Amino acid sequence: MKGIILAGGAGSRLYPISLTASKQLQPVYDKPMIYYPLSSLMIGGIKDILLISTPQDLPRFEALLGTGEKWGINISYKVQEKPEGIAQAFLLGKEFIGDDNVTLILGDNIFYGNMQLASIVETFSGGGLIFGYYVKDPERYGVVEFDSSGKVVGIEEKPAAPKSNYCVPGLYIYDNSVIEVAEKLKASERGELEITDVNVHYLNEKKLNVNILRRGIAWLDTGTHSSLLEASDFIATIQARQGLKISCPEEIAFHMNFIDKEQLDDLIKEMPEGEYRLYLEERYKRQDPFEKH
Ligand code: DAU
Repeated sequence: MKGIILAGGAGSRLYPISLTASKQLQPVYDKPMIYYPLSSLMIGGIKDILLISTPQDLPRFEALLGTGEKWGINISYKVQEKPEGIAQAFLLGKEFIGDDNVTLILGDNIFYGNMQLASIVETFSGGGLIFGYYVKDPERYGVVEFDSSGKVVGIEEKPAAPKSNYCVPGLYIYDNSVIEVAEKLKASERGELEITDVNVHYLNEKKLNVNILRRGIAWLDTGTHSSLLEASDFIATIQARQGLKISCPEEIAFHMNFIDKEQLDDLIKEMPEGEYRLYLEERYKRQDPFEKH
């Protein structure tokens, strides 16, 4: 399974803070936003990752994340010249995907909670797999429509009158046919290759699974100043309670056995003194039978 993080876009709703660095490089409490979706892919066991962003921002992501080698993963990079739609990721990523299946995550989507992503990825059997998440304001998203038996019968992008409260978060798993599906897409009225059109295609082919994320999972939005602050508050609250960091790539790389303890220790040694380093230094000192959970 290959992974793509789509981290471009204009970020205009975060003006002026997005003037010097893109939205996905902004902090969500104590880490750059991009750490969160990257961590989701890593937790899913995905090690080959393509990051797509704008010509201005791509070098900044490269400076931050590098080749991924330090975390036992491979990160490559691709420019999206213009934000011409989420589904364009499969065209830009065609070579990278090769003959594999692919998981796409949006660079501004934060998931928290046990989604069983590793087993979902491992048992993925083809077609498309998306998620459904109950929200108060579904009209802002792709929305799933169900019949009375709970079967998915439609998906609409930002409908004025949503047919359910279940929206589609920015995490999508497809088999290799998604490249061909994306190649045949036509731009929507807003001039974009819509991910919802990809999902509708798989739905019509009866090859779409919608996995409902229960309320114990948090899916956070970061597109506006207030939602960015709320996401930071959420992360800060859980971290303060547990003393465990959410989406710390070094820790996840170690837990997923992408790197060993020696490599983790080497990474820590290179970090400047400060809270982040101290966390990782202290993390494995106390005996914890569930250390790798
Ligand atoms: O967040 C989930 C929602 O994401 C889904 O429910 C919708 O179906 C889907 O269309 C999308 O809606 P948004 O209105 O949030 O899409 P937006 O244009 O804001 O793009 C989402 C992220 O992807 C954003 O951080 C920028 C990035 N992006 C977007 C486009 C269109 C790109 O990097 N390139 C693009 O061409």
